[in-house]
Amino acid sequence: MTSEKNRVVIFDTTLRDGEQSPGATMSHEEKLEIAGLLDEMGVDIIEAGFPIASEGDFAAVSEIAKNAQNSVICGLSRANFKDIDRCWEAVRHAGRPRIHTFIGTSPLHRAIPDLTQDEMAERIHDTVTHARNLCDNVQWSPMDATRTEWDYLARVVEIAIRAGATTINIPDTVGYTAPVESADLIRRLIAEVPGADEVVFSTHCHNDLGMATANSLAAVAGGARQIECTINGLGERAGNTALEEVVMAMKVRHDIMPYTTGVDATKIMHISRRVATVSGFNVQYNKAIVGKNAFAHESGIHQDGMLKNAETFEIMRPEDVGLSETNIVMGKHSGRAALRSKLKDLGYELGDNQLNDLFVRYKALADRKKEVFDDDLIALVTDAGAPDASDHLEVKFLRVICGTEAPQSADLTLRVGDVDHQSTAQGDGPVDAAFNAVNAIHPNSAQLQLYQVSAVTEGMDAQATVTVRIEEDGRIATGQSADTDTVVASVKAYVNALNRLIMRREKGGSDVPEVTYKDVS
Ligand code: KIV
Ligand code: ZN
Repeated sequence: MTSEKNRVVIFDTTLRDGEQSPGATMSHEEKLEIAGLLDEMGVDIIEAGFPIASEGDFAAVSEIAKNAQNSVICGLSRANFKDIDRCWEAVRHAGRPRIHTFIGTSPLHRAIPDLTQDEMAERIHDTVTHARNLCDNVQWSPMDATRTEWDYLARVVEIAIRAGATTINIPDTVGYTAPVESADLIRRLIAEVPGADEVVFSTHCHNDLGMATANSLAAVAGGARQIECTINGLGERAGNTALEEVVMAMKVRHDIMPYTTGVDATKIMHISRRVATVSGFNVQYNKAIVGKNAFAHESGIHQDGMLKNAETFEIMRPEDVGLSETNIVMGKHSGRAALRSKLKDLGYELGDNQLNDLFVRYKALADRKKEVFDDDLIALVTDAGAPDASDHLEVKFLRVICGTEAPQSADLTLRVGDVDHQSTAQGDGPVDAAFNAVNAIHPNSAQLQLYQVSAVTEGMDAQATVTVRIEEDGRIATGQSADTDTVVASVKAYVNALNRLIMRREKGGSDVPEVTYKDVS
C-alpha cells in the first residue's frame, strides 16, 4: 500500500552535479533538450545548474526555468548573498522555482572559509533567511554532512529550518557512508531536530564505494522523501546515485519498498542514451537498468529459461524502461514514413528537414550493412556535429592508406564554412594520420584526452561508435560519430569535438567554473 506519505520526490541533478564531472560539459542546446526530457518524464525537481558559475550556466538555468512545464526548477548557490541573488535571478522565471544553498559543515570543510562553528551557524541563518525572503521554496545542504559531528549537524539543521528552509538535503559528498548509517542519520535527524517534521528530508549520495543507490534507498527507509540523482549516475569521480536505479528498485521491489515516484519509467532508455551521447560518457555494458547487456541473455540455460517463461531470469521487462522489443528494423527499401515511425518508437521526433537529411544517411548505411538495428538508427540520429559554430568543419572525403609498414597516410577534404580544403598527412597508424590531416587544415592546440571505440551492433559489418574528448585552454569538448569504417567514425568524432570547441570559443567562457565550491563570501 502506498500513500502520499510514501511519495518520494525525484530531484535530478544531471545538469548540475552530473555536468560538473570533468569532460561531461554540455552545450546550451543540449542542456535545454535534457531538461525538456526530464520534465516530460515526470521528474519533480530539476537542478538546472549553478547560475553564478558562468554566464553560460546562468543563461541555461534561466531558459530552462522559462521552458519548464511541470518540474520545479532549482539552481545552486553557495552561502553568500551574491550567489543567492544570482540564483534567484535565473530560477525566478520558472512557474515553480527553488533556491538551493549549501555550505560545507564538516571539520575539513569548515577549515576552508576558516569559520568557527558559531560564525558558520550565523552565516547559515543569514543566507537561508535571505533565500527565503526571495523564494518560498528553499533547499539547504550541509555539504559533507556524513562526516560532520552529530551535535553540530543537528544544530545547523535546526537553524536552517528556523530560517525558512523547506527541504533539508543531507549530502554524502565523498561517498563515505553505508546503508545502515545512511538510514540512521536521517531517522535521528527527524526524531531529534526541533521542527524536522515541517520539512522534507532529502538524500544526496555519491558512489565512491559503489553504495550510492543502496544509501539513497536506506535514507528513504529512514524517512527521507527526496532522492537526488542523475541519469546514468553521471557525476564527479564515481558519480551520483543513478535515477534509473532508484526508480526501478522502488517499482520492482515495491513489496519491501512501498514508495512511489512520479517518473514515467518507459522514458528511461531514451534519456539515458541522450545523456550518454551529449556528455560523451558511454554507459558501461553491464550497468544496471540501462547497460547494453542489462536485458541480454547469452548463456544457453538462460535463453532456454527465457523462452519458456521470461520471468525465469527477468525481474522486469525491457519495455518497462522503454527498451524497444524489435531488433531488426528495416531494409534498404523502407521509405521515409517507416523511418519516421520507427524513430518515433525509439523516442525521436524529427522535423521534415532533419528527417530528409537522416533518410539520405540511412540509405547509405543500409547499402553498406546487411541488417540495420535499432542501435544503428540511434547512432545515425545522434551523429550530429555542433551546427551553430560559424566556421563549421565537415568531412567531405577521406582516404587512408594503411599497411604493416609505418607511416600510414591520409588524404582529406575538409569543408570549413563554405570552402573545401585538401590535405595529405602521415601518422603513426591510420587514425593518427587522419587526425594530422585535419590539423593541417585546422591548426589547433587541443590535446586529446580520450579516444574510445565501441561497436554499436554485432557482426563484421557492425558500426563503430567513436568518442573523442579534447581539451584546449581549460575548455573540454566531446565529439561522437558512428560509421561502419572505424577510421571514418574517428575523424568525424574528432571534427565534431573541434566544432564544439569552436562554438565554445565563440561563446566565451571555459569549462573550469569561474567560481568553485570553495566558500568565499
Ligand atoms: O555532493 C555534494 O555535497 C553536493 C552539494 C553541493 C549538495 O553536490
Ligand atoms: Zn554532489
